[in-house]
Amino acid sequence: MQRAGNGTRFHYCNLTSAFCNAFSTTAEIGTDTNLSLLEVTGLTRRFGGLVAVSRLDFAVEGGEIVGLIGPNGAGKTTVFSLLTGFLRPDSGHIVFDSAPLVGLSPHRICLLGLVRTFQNLKPFLHLTIRENVTVGALARTADRTLSARYAAEALEWLGLTDMADHLPNELPIGHLKMLEIAKALATQPRLLLLDEPYAGLTPTEGAQLGDLLQRIRKKGVTICLIEHVMRFVMAVCDRIVVLHHGEKIAEGHPTAVASDPAVIKAYLGKAYAGS
Ligand SMILES: Nc1ncnc2c1ncn2[C@@H]1O[C@H](COP(=O)(O)OP(=O)(O)O)[C@@H](O)[C@H]1O
Ligand SMILES: [Mg+2]
Repeated sequence: MQRAGNGTRFHYCNLTSAFCNAFSTTAEIGTDTNLSLLEVTGLTRRFGGLVAVSRLDFAVEGGEIVGLIGPNGAGKTTVFSLLTGFLRPDSGHIVFDSAPLVGLSPHRICLLGLVRTFQNLKPFLHLTIRENVTVGALARTADRTLSARYAAEALEWLGLTDMADHLPNELPIGHLKMLEIAKALATQPRLLLLDEPYAGLTPTEGAQLGDLLQRIRKKGVTICLIEHVMRFVMAVCDRIVVLHHGEKIAEGHPTAVASDPAVIKAYLGKAYAGS
């Protein structure tokens, strides 16, 4: 499996090249190391007596689009919260580009290049669309000129430039979903975690999202997404990880996972297996 090479690596100390690598050049895909971009081992999180995530092992390679699927309550969003420092695991390890993440704040993890969107939209209602996205850019840099540039680039990518001076409550849901992704992209991530990005979109917007994710990946940003809409997951993901009751029950190529009896029983149902 290939992973992103040095051409796609960027850090807080190298903002200009970060910007160029993320949005202005085609990513170089190299084979500089055998380590995965993200390595998760033994990840466990309990809420009282409930084990929301149980001894989870999985990896994401640079350049991949990985789908995380499973029934409601399977632990998918909890995994994203653990990866990005919003929750602390009870046990397990998370290593991102060789850096251990457990114990770091969401802000520190964002600076390392790992950022997530949220299932529930929560834009800053009193800020314009541009200002909302600039908040994301300011997580990366305090430089006003640079943050404005990052925000403008992300707005352009998400097709929000024309409505940048509007307030969030003036936009339809589809655009607000794009705003979430724009905020995350403006932080200049290397790995973007998207929590149900398709939900609430029209079929046309959904098709545009699939195209957008492929273009984001081509620019060197690796993607891991949670989604229930299987035709979308099947179309855009290189690999799928399936959770059930916090445990990984399957992992692999979309077509193999979709015909896996354990996945059909726990999640997809017989109707999907026949389609
Ligand atoms: N902060 C929390 N406190 C208590 N229980 C939680 C909390 N967050 C999630 N859970 C529980 O953990 C389980 C997994 O939730 P979640 O990760 O949101 O699932 P998914 O995203 O797969 O639908 C669910 O049973 C949910 O009720
Ligand atoms: Mg969820």
